[in-house]
Amino acid sequence: MAVKFSNTFLLRKLHQLTGIIPLGMFYFVHLWTNSAALNGAKVFDDHVQDIHNFPYLLLIEIFGIFVPLVFHSVYGILISAEAKPNVLNYGYVRNWFYLFQRATGIFLFFFLLFHILNFRFGLIPGLNLIPVAGNADKAYSIVSGEFQITWVMVIYIIGILATAWHLAYGFFLFAVDWGIVIGEKAQKVVLYGCLSLAVMLGVAGINAAFAFVRPCGLLPTALCEEPHKAETNAPKKF
Ligand code: HEM
Repeated sequence: MAVKFSNTFLLRKLHQLTGIIPLGMFYFVHLWTNSAALNGAKVFDDHVQDIHNFPYLLLIEIFGIFVPLVFHSVYGILISAEAKPNVLNYGYVRNWFYLFQRATGIFLFFFLLFHILNFRFGLIPGLNLIPVAGNADKAYSIVSGEFQITWVMVIYIIGILATAWHLAYGFFLFAVDWGIVIGEKAQKVVLYGCLSLAVMLGVAGINAAFAFVRPCGLLPTALCEEPHKAETNAPKKF
């Protein structure tokens, strides 16, 4: 009998766990760093430099990000291939959510390949060719240069929204599958919590992306440090 990856208990648990720790944790830190761009190029570059100063950074990247990411993506694609979507038979909202979970996962595999080659390594022909790694002082200008290109910005916005959904709904699936939230009522409350988290992650992520093309992103400049400083330091006209 053929082995079904989706039935392999230990691998399945490991797949769920890697989505939360370390990948979910990484994303919160990443969003925080990207949001530093709201306060200008120097603040963002300094945040990137602080990360580059971590001891054992390469080992953290390899074993804390790349290995779990490859396992989580490849195993996720294998179980998606085995899943039989039943939204057409049963139009329940949760079936659609389950389908989105798989669809965003497959999209994120390609998005992250593009994103990591684009920024971490500077290896996408025709786009930025300077890796952010080793060039923290140019990090803001590298990202900002890419985000001036409309199609690149559109891909990042879709990537941010896909991540927001995949991570937040992933928390819900994890809580149910690991028996953390059991009753029907409790599951409903946690589901609403996770959907709200998806909205917050989406809005904060898009705002961070716009901070690379406009001071303070989509917020009024009075709410951010650098544009505010520039205004208060400007010579008075009268
Ligand atoms: C506003 C949107 C984003 C910006 C500006 C951004 C920026 C960057 C930059 C500059 C790097 C290279 C870091 C370095 O080499 O020091 C990077 C790496 C990375 N990003 Fe993003 N990113 C964004 C969205 C995302 C999203 C939605 C994900 C989804 C999970 C993601 C996942 C990653 C991963 C896995 C890496 C590799 C980490 C590493 O090399 O240590 N990013 N990002």
